This record gives sequence, C-alpha cells and structure tokens, in this order.
Amino acid sequence: MNIRVQQQSLTSLESDVLVIPLTQGEQSNETVQVLSATLNGALREQITRSGFTGKEGETLLFHTQGRLPSRSVLLVGLGKADAVETETWRRLAGKSYKEARGQGAKHLAWFFAADRGRDDALAAVVEATLLSSYTFDKYKSEKNGKPAVETLTLAGTNLQKTATLTRALDIAQKTAPGVFLARDLINEPASVSTPTYLAEQAAKLSRGNGLKGEIWGLNKIKAAKMSGLLAVARGSVEEPRFIKLIYKPAGKPRKKVALVGKGLTFDSGGLSLKPAKSMETMKLDMSGGATVLGVMEVVSQLKPQVQVTGYVPATENMPSGTAQKPGDIIRYNNGKTVEVLNTDAEGRLILADALIQAVQEKPDVIIDLATLTGACVVALGGQIAGLFSNNQELAEALLRCGTETGEPLWRLPLVKEYKEDIKSSVADIKNIGSGNAGAIAAALFLEEFVGGLPWAHLDIAGPAFAERDGSYIPKGGTGFGVRTLVRYLLSL
Ligand code: BES
Ligand code: ZN
Ligand code: ZN
Repeated sequence: MNIRVQQQSLTSLESDVLVIPLTQGEQSNETVQVLSATLNGALREQITRSGFTGKEGETLLFHTQGRLPSRSVLLVGLGKADAVETETWRRLAGKSYKEARGQGAKHLAWFFAADRGRDDALAAVVEATLLSSYTFDKYKSEKNGKPAVETLTLAGTNLQKTATLTRALDIAQKTAPGVFLARDLINEPASVSTPTYLAEQAAKLSRGNGLKGEIWGLNKIKAAKMSGLLAVARGSVEEPRFIKLIYKPAGKPRKKVALVGKGLTFDSGGLSLKPAKSMETMKLDMSGGATVLGVMEVVSQLKPQVQVTGYVPATENMPSGTAQKPGDIIRYNNGKTVEVLNTDAEGRLILADALIQAVQEKPDVIIDLATLTGACVVALGGQIAGLFSNNQELAEALLRCGTETGEPLWRLPLVKEYKEDIKSSVADIKNIGSGNAGAIAAALFLEEFVGGLPWAHLDIAGPAFAERDGSYIPKGGTGFGVRTLVRYLLSL
C-alpha cells in the first residue's frame, strides 16, 4: 500500500472513500458544515435521519454523487472526546479499511481536522490500515474479488509531516510485513508448516537480510543433547529443527536480547492425546516461534542498536510407537532431570532446551513467547497474554509496550510456594503442577532454566489465534507480540 501524508482541503481531496473521524456530538462541527454546504444539505439530512452522533464505532457512508472529488464520505465515530485512545484509532482504521475494501475502493483517504492530526493518531491509522489488509486466501477457489486498496492518504488543512511522524510511519510500514510473516506461518496447515518448513523460512529470512542464521538438524540437536526437543520429537515422523537467527547492529550493541519462541508445529498432545475439538486449532502451537521470526524480519529492516538472537525449537507432538511415555524422565544438558507425567505439557520441555542455549550466551534479557497453557486462556481469555517475569524493570517495560501497541499483557505472579507443585518424587521436577494454577506452574518450570538472568515469559495461548474477525486482526493467526517486542527493542 502506498502511503501519503499531505496538506489538503477537504473539498480538493480525491479518493474513493474519504474517512472523517468525529467525536461524539460533533456531527455538525466545522468539517461537517463545510461538507454539507458542498453536498447541498443532503449529508445533513442523512445524519439526522440515521441518528449518527459520533459514538465509538458508529459509521455513516454517504455517496457524494460527483459533488466532491471523493466518491464517498465515511463518517466514523471516535466516541467521547476525552476517552479517545490510540487503540480507538486503530479500531476505526480497521473498520474503515473493511468498508473501503467492501466498496471496491482503490484510494482511501482520511481527513484530519486541525486539532486531530496528532502523530500517534496518524501512525495508529496507518498501522491498523496496513494490518487490516492481511488476507490468507491461498486455499480458497473464490477470492474476495475486490481489488486491494492501493493508496492511503492522510490529509488535513495543516497536517505537518514531522520527524516523529515520518519515523512512526516507517516503523509501521516495516513492522507489518513481520506480523504478516507470523500470521502466514501460523495459518498454513500443520502438514505444510512443519519444523522443516519453519527452518526453511528462517533460512530464507536470514539470506540477504543482514541476519546470521543457523539451522540445526537432527544430528546437531542430538550432539547438543537437547533432550526435551528430542523427547517430544521422537513420536513424530517429521524431524525436529532448532532455529537460531542473529541480528548484530553496526557498532557496539546497547543490550543483548534473546527471544525464544515455542515452535510446536502441531500439538496432538502426544500419548496424553487431546480430544478432537481441542486439536482443531493446534496448528497454532508454533505461534511463539512465528512471532520470533516475525520480529527478526522487522529488526533486520529497522536495525535497532541492540543485538537480538531468536531461538525457535521446532517439532511436532505426536502419539506413536516411538513417542515418549508418561513417566519417562528427561535429563537436560544442564543436569536437571524432568519427569514427564503428561506428554501434552510439551511446550515447556522444548523451551527448556532453547532457554539453556540462550543462557549460555549471557544475554542481558531473555524473553520467551509460547502458546503454553489452556489455563492462561481460562484466566485471561482470547485478548490478553499472561506475563511472568523475575525482573520488575523488564516486566514494566513490556507492560507499557503492550499497552501502547494494543497487545495487552497482564502480569501473573511466579508464586514461590507453588514450586512445591512441580517437585517430582523420582526426578528434580515434573512437567505438570499438582496445584490448580496451570499457567503459573508452567512459568515456574521455565524459570528453572533461565539461570537467574532477567527473563520474561509471555503465555500467548489466548491471543495468538483469533476465533473471529476483529477490527484490524482477522480470524486466524494474529502475530500477537511482534509489535510489542519491536517497540520494546526500539526503546532500549
Ligand atoms: N499447546 C497447548 C496449550 C494451548 C491450549 C494453546 C489452548 C492454545 C490453546 C499446550 O501444549 C498444552 O496442551 N498444555 C496443557 C498443559 C497441561 C497438560 C498441564 C493444557 O494447557 O491443557
Ligand atoms: Zn500440549
Ligand atoms: Zn502445546
């Protein structure tokens, strides 16, 4: 999509759909008066008839019948003036994009009144418009048919393209492809998006992008004694892969950050088999890995002054004659032993290996993302990810970035007393808790492998995959976390 920012009056702007954001009670403000005058009062009449007042999410589409250079005007409601948030702009942008797409619009424009063209609002509109343009229809014989929106124009009578705005637009434009990469990897069926496929995509990403890539095959994984990954993978015909991507900035990095993503390309539960219904969406179980790859792509374009290493342990979790069995014990290469009581708690088993690898390189910060527990979905639902951290500053930074990007995180506690729940009678720890707090037990398990380094764990089991279309996040893989992590890395 081509994006333009220009100073222009409402009556000279050419577009297919011209979006005019209005706060509640503003339905006869100056902008609307100018419009009404040009449109011979017909717009006034329609506003009155429809009862449009600018409530959040309200829309009114008006065809200009050639009286304006724009084919139609779309009034959108921002809601109460004192409650307009960045996320409000994103949601409206998503809604407007859908409306424009439905109209077959090629040129979408937004008009900002003098007091409304704040940089963060403009950037949010661009970001969400881009994010809304995502489709995954490669397996559909009948495509949407409507042409894609080609240009997005942000206009206003005194809109300034400030340095901050230019930077924000650049970030939005370079971040969207990373989100799309993550969404694509998640949306591909598990029989396509296999560990080998993920590894190939990672290798492709590293070529020509200034990233260093290392893909470990079965032999290297065996040699490195990644016992958790091997234990989970042994039930599957698909070979595991361990993906490592490194971004090094020119000059001295301000920080070294390790990102670890669960790359479980299909979770059947293994011998602790899931019921059919719970398995339907289990291609989503590599979302953490997809997010890490998405972030690496963005980082290679935005080039922050931090070193970022992405680690993705990738495997399937399948039942078979060679599968690991409940009661098996894994010995990790840092000496820890784990009793596997439920083969469906496999994410933590493969993440442990990746965390051990990450710790060896002594990063300043480790952040892992994983669709780890159904318990987290029960606690926080489909919109919010659970955040666990052993470091206050890191937790606060991530919470702030999540709020700012519209990817909300909610901090849950690493309750020391619950460590008792993952003690095993035959090994050091076991892979399920004996208490009720499943998301916490999983996080405490991971904490055993971070060697005391500043670490945060995002349980994205809820928001990684949308059950239905949202305003700017379509049904399916969401790419949750890419924008938050990019924002975090840029803030260091
Ligand atoms: N991949 C699942 C978690 C999950 C559930 C992700 C729903 C997305 C949506 C994970 O591997 C799993 O099966 N966890 C078990 C752990 C339990 C056996 C301790 C769970 O949450 O039921
Ligand atoms: Zn599982
Ligand atoms: Zn899983």
